[in-house]
Amino acid sequence: MTPVKFSRYYLVRNLGAGGMAQTYRAKLFAEHGFVKTLVVKLILPQFAADPRFLSMFIDEAKLAAGLAHGNIVSVFDFGSCGEGREARYFIAMEHVWGRDLATFVRGCQAAGQRVPVDLAVYVASEVSHALAHAHKRRDASGRLVRIVHRDVTPSNILLSFEGEVKLADFGIAKAVTGGHAAAEPGFAGKLAYMAPEQALGEPLDHRSDLFSLGIVLHEALAGQRLFRRPSAHATLQAVVEAPIPRLSEMREDVPVALDDILARALERDPAARYSSADELARDLAALSRNEELEMSSTFLGALMRRVFAKEIESDEKEMREERAFEESFVRGEKPKLGAEVPAAPAPVDEEVTIVGDDAPAVRRKILIVDDAKTIHEVLKVYLLGLDFDFALARNGREGLEVARAERPDLIISDLNMPEMDGIELCRAVRSDPEIGSTPFLFISSRAAPQDRQATREAGADEHLAKPLDADELVHTVKTLTNRSDTV
Ligand SMILES: Nc1ncnc2c1ncn2[C@@H]1O[C@H](COP(=O)(O)OP(=O)(O)OP(=O)(O)O)[C@@H](O)[C@H]1O
Ligand SMILES: [Mg+2]
Repeated sequence: MTPVKFSRYYLVRNLGAGGMAQTYRAKLFAEHGFVKTLVVKLILPQFAADPRFLSMFIDEAKLAAGLAHGNIVSVFDFGSCGEGREARYFIAMEHVWGRDLATFVRGCQAAGQRVPVDLAVYVASEVSHALAHAHKRRDASGRLVRIVHRDVTPSNILLSFEGEVKLADFGIAKAVTGGHAAAEPGFAGKLAYMAPEQALGEPLDHRSDLFSLGIVLHEALAGQRLFRRPSAHATLQAVVEAPIPRLSEMREDVPVALDDILARALERDPAARYSSADELARDLAALSRNEELEMSSTFLGALMRRVFAKEIESDEKEMREERAFEESFVRGEKPKLGAEVPAAPAPVDEEVTIVGDDAPAVRRKILIVDDAKTIHEVLKVYLLGLDFDFALARNGREGLEVARAERPDLIISDLNMPEMDGIELCRAVRSDPEIGSTPFLFISSRAAPQDRQATREAGADEHLAKPLDADELVHTVKTLTNRSDTV
């Protein structure tokens, strides 16, 4: 879009519209060529028409601006631009380069991949830290402020390409609805993420956010909406009483302990629910320890960059164009500006289920043969998001047995192992009429020329040395398994 001046900001890119606002990437220019990229969110005009709006908006924006936490999108500024009926209210906030959780779940699915349990739990755990910080916030005189987010939904959980998790839009829901979200016709879609007490318009507190987070986590793993129904009435009824399927019965990789955590977050009675976000965060942390989940921004970032490789490329192109605008502005030229803020496009249709009904893609199997399990750990990070199952073996002899029994699509082996080493394994595979053509990749910590020659002579297809380059690894694995059509 042609940049448009709005208040102190230059809106340069339309990021989308939700139920309450229109969101733009924007630039703020200061002296000495200082330029800051941020997000400016314009509240849709119909909300500002309500006389209760302004005071609520100011109160909530002030509270949000007071929150400072790595898992919360920082609010820098708020105000209005224009006079009287024309006034547009806005909030300026930190720009998070990435995609929201709803888009991430769709992206994983498009790549034929379920959201990994590790990552869903990681995201929920980071959001619970954000909520704990906000819920515990006290004012200058030490009184609890009682902040409730009220709109914990997948589109308000932003995941950066670096793997950070940030909760956006604190308090905006309250400001624009006067605290009566369920009564707003435009909020039917949001009912599906509300706690029962919230959806029924009863008094709510911080525990409502925990219920909403439970819905978000459940849906990310189930790959389908939990309470969304065709009408607002049916959705409301589902929020209040629909049975909640246990995830461990839907996915074999979901631990039962996670079902128990979800059951407590999704208790209809707030008194039976987790009493604080800290308590939920503690249980998620214990789960990740017991189940040895990989919970890190490195994992999330690696998967994000795989799933959104194309989007990153087009974003970078857009950002280069924006830089050209910045530079011309800083040079004192008068770049061409649009006259008006473009009209808000129709909000995203909330009816759309996050996940389609496509049959799950056939999963490929990779056999990893490694005595130290280190190759497996590394591969788990880099191949996350490509839909592979892994089989493990600790030495060549075991590897040969597993290969014969499970017929993997690719064997990845370490070089030096006790009993039967990688070279012997590779020769044994090649001379076996049943599995002789299985692609074979060596990964070793050193790959001297004589090692490479030995693996080639044994019949290996490729030999990569550690430290591995993620892109090269993914390319090699995809080529060897003929999966160049995915992600
Ligand atoms: N701080 C931000 N940084 C980067 N992108 C953002 C930011 N805030 C929002 N976005 C993007 O803009 C899109 C529109 O956001 P917006 O908040 O207007 O709608 P929403 O989250 O779908 O609904 P809601 O009205 O409940 O917040 C989001 O899907 C998100 O991808
Ligand atoms: Mg939002």
